[in-house]
Amino acid sequence: MSTLPLSNEPWDAHLVRYGMPFASSLVAKARGTLLWDSEGREILDFTSGQMCATIGHNHPRIVAAIRDACAGALHLYSGMLSPPVVALSQRLARMLPPHLSRALFLSTGGEANEAAIKLAKMHSGRYEIVGFTGSWHGMTSGAQSVNYVAGRQGYGPLMPGSLLLPAPNAYHCPVRHCRDQCDGTCLDIGFDMVDAQSTGSLAAVIAEPVESSGGVIVPPDGYWQKVKEHCQKRGMLFIFDEAQTAFGRLGRDFAFQHFGVEPDVLTLSKTLGGGLPLSATVISEEMEEDCHQKGFIHPTSHVSDPLPAHAALAVLDVLAEESLNDRALTMGKELAAGLHWLQDRHEIIGDVRGFGLLQGVELVKDRRTRAPDVATGRAITARCMELGLSMNIVSVGQMAAIWRIAPPLTVSKDEIDRGIAIIDQAVAEVLADGARVAAE
Ligand SMILES: Cc1ncc(COP(=O)(O)O)c(C=O)c1O
Repeated sequence: MSTLPLSNEPWDAHLVRYGMPFASSLVAKARGTLLWDSEGREILDFTSGQMCATIGHNHPRIVAAIRDACAGALHLYSGMLSPPVVALSQRLARMLPPHLSRALFLSTGGEANEAAIKLAKMHSGRYEIVGFTGSWHGMTSGAQSVNYVAGRQGYGPLMPGSLLLPAPNAYHCPVRHCRDQCDGTCLDIGFDMVDAQSTGSLAAVIAEPVESSGGVIVPPDGYWQKVKEHCQKRGMLFIFDEAQTAFGRLGRDFAFQHFGVEPDVLTLSKTLGGGLPLSATVISEEMEEDCHQKGFIHPTSHVSDPLPAHAALAVLDVLAEESLNDRALTMGKELAAGLHWLQDRHEIIGDVRGFGLLQGVELVKDRRTRAPDVATGRAITARCMELGLSMNIVSVGQMAAIWRIAPPLTVSKDEIDRGIAIIDQAVAEVLADGARVAAE
């Protein structure tokens, strides 16, 4: 498929490894929910690339948007605006509540959160930022400081004033209080701890509406309202990071609509660009004016670039035209039903949770202790890939092993059925293999 000349060296001989193992074949083509490796082998993609291809890989509208950008402008001086950037800012303002009316367009989720943190500090005049256990907000230093799922060790001091709340994980209650139904005790304890640690400079809470990399943690009803009340009581801003949840995955344009709580600051990324690097930090008129007056600067090389803005406009068109919010709910039900069917068949599946097309499957050694089965989970994930299904296993330290299953919103029933059948086969084979090795 690829005509590029490659030497006989290992593929990664000149690449820096960045955390996850590289897949064993090169991927040459992607369309919709499908990938093809350079040998032409078909692979179902249940990770939507890196959670960005919500409207499917290489959607014809994205391809057309890239062509439009080529006919216009791809990249400009940071101080120049272009029609797609202005149109995108206007479009988002129409979709969002009136107080979320000003967007800063950057490239990655980490950058958007970095900007959100800087803006929150400047506007509040305070510096403490509170994140959640199991959170992922990015790999740049500020964002990484409130990233509690992985990657904290080995780089020396992180951002001063980074504090922590326990995520409402009902399957593994962080304060060993509830089982299966979070009653919010962890939140009140968490804020007591935050108050105890604070130097009196609490600026903001940053959170994912449904924590994704931390294992698909869906908070109980009323949880985010309580968080917002805690923030208001302390004069803190509330930042929602909707990198993965905005634009359809949970069946709404924005997940905060589902939870009924509007953030003071909203960050968007992954799903906004439809596979092209684009993120946004969205704030109020008042906050924008205040930070501007105080000298806020954040001109990156690709701030306000026209190319990704063209793509984002196409994403928003497709979201509406193909009714992808509704589709995420319908197909999400199909996916959840398939996963529950697998749970009935395989003891290793301890929990199935999530909603819309963001589902988590927790793999355990035994359902009573809920001890994670990381090694078997990894072996099944690898076998799925051999059988033609790409899946993501996220592990929260050694505490849990969870498949995060999130195909594009355009996934068909047939593709879901194929995926479920592959998981079923892979689980059965790996477990039989393990039993055989144990018996030998
Ligand atoms: C919720 C969330 N926020 C931010 C990020 C960081 O985005 P990026 O990798 O584009 O910097 C991620 C990445 O996985 C994410 O899941």
